[in-house]
Amino acid sequence: MTMQHIDLKEIHSGGYVGKKVAVCGWVRTSRDSKNVAFVELNDGSELSHMQIVFDKAVFDDKMLAPLLALGAALKVEGTVERGMKDESVEIRAESAELLGGSDTTYPLQKKRHTMEFLRTIPHLRVRTNTFNAVFRVRSELSYAIHEFFHKNGYYYVHSPIITGSDCEGAGEVFKVTTIGYNPEIKSEEEYNKNDFFGRSAGLTVSGQLEGEVMATALGKIYTFGPTFRAENSNTPRHAAEFWQVEPEVAFADIDDIIGIATDMIKSIIAHLLEHCAPELKFFDERFENGLIAKLRHVVESDFARIDYTDAIEVLKKSGKQFVYPVEWGLDLQTEHERYLTDEYFKKPVFVVNYPRKIKSFYMKQNADGKTVAATDLLVPGVGEIIGCSEREADYDKLLKEIKDRGMKLSDYANYLDLRKFGTVPHSGFGLGLERMLMYVTGMANIRDVIEFPRTKDDLK
Ligand code: 4AD
Ligand code: MG
Repeated sequence: MTMQHIDLKEIHSGGYVGKKVAVCGWVRTSRDSKNVAFVELNDGSELSHMQIVFDKAVFDDKMLAPLLALGAALKVEGTVERGMKDESVEIRAESAELLGGSDTTYPLQKKRHTMEFLRTIPHLRVRTNTFNAVFRVRSELSYAIHEFFHKNGYYYVHSPIITGSDCEGAGEVFKVTTIGYNPEIKSEEEYNKNDFFGRSAGLTVSGQLEGEVMATALGKIYTFGPTFRAENSNTPRHAAEFWQVEPEVAFADIDDIIGIATDMIKSIIAHLLEHCAPELKFFDERFENGLIAKLRHVVESDFARIDYTDAIEVLKKSGKQFVYPVEWGLDLQTEHERYLTDEYFKKPVFVVNYPRKIKSFYMKQNADGKTVAATDLLVPGVGEIIGCSEREADYDKLLKEIKDRGMKLSDYANYLDLRKFGTVPHSGFGLGLERMLMYVTGMANIRDVIEFPRTKDDLK
């Protein structure tokens, strides 16, 4: 293997002092002095860099110039030595190969760039410490989610990306079509009939409806994939394309699913505390002071729980001037959610039993006739990260709800069948992966936890 080399992380893990190694990476910073030059090399295997020392007796200035260019890709062979600081190591270069040169037009020159600027270069920003850390945590978080469900006996199922139904009924579905502009087409009906599927189709907003199908045979399932919403809101926490984790559990009521959601959140945070320590420390220092203490507290303490009706009272008595009105029957806005979590409870809180009218058609109707067995998990700093409910298992109630909401019955015929044949109490939730990432990294904008953010008027 010509490119044979060792990950920098492996060398940092110890036991290499005095040994000859070959390493590869990109130049993050460089420094030139009279007799030696230094390069901080990063190969993506960990957050920290490896210092490479170039002795000018071996490398003359002409050889060195391209090797010191920020952004250049190098392969270096040399000996691992003890560095200046305790326990640090560095590599004294004996030979070096320029794999890919760079020049002064490289956008990541030595200075602290704003997040806004970095968003304009999504193809390069991952080469900064911040984004390197974000995407390492994103990978580890995804793994932790799979691990949690796998070890608890769930099946990982794949729900379709192209669907014919609007699960949330919020009218935020992106249309999927192969027909371009055609003034000959006289009606929407005609348009749909001539389209690829012979009917209207869109990108899924949620894998839940298909997840329910799978759960009513496999018992415990989860989906984990991209979902899409044509949300017109330009906020720091809404993306048009985001990843969702959606477990669906047969023979589980609302209290059961709240327990499962709690266990999952604690389990994945504990995993990150153990496996992403350097990254979390970095975020604690640079983005959210106290982040690690906050995460530890989440793992160790109970989550709060409050009825929607009581939450409205808390908000009314808060003495706060909210922009949006607080009234029973109205949805909670971000400012209300933030007050409840950031100021009132100061920890994650499940708000339970929302008014039926402001929630989705599939939620189990409570005996009071006004509310549904639904809950949102709100967390400090971010707001809603989970939408959760027990599903309506009664055929007649569900049918009436679909009709009352003016939904197209034929789109939900199979879904209704689940209530006709062996219906069972079942529950599930959706965790927004990016929202969770914002919570665990302290990143304030959803655009900075997904490598290629898609938001209103922005697709790079
Ligand atoms: O609350 P939501 O709309 O719930 C559902 O879609 C259910 N079908 C889930 C289920 O029960 N299987 O969305 C779930 C979560 C939200 O709590 C939020 O974390 C995230 O998905 N989310 C978004 N994240 C980023 N950008 C958006 N536009 C989002 N919309 C929802
Ligand atoms: Mg929601």
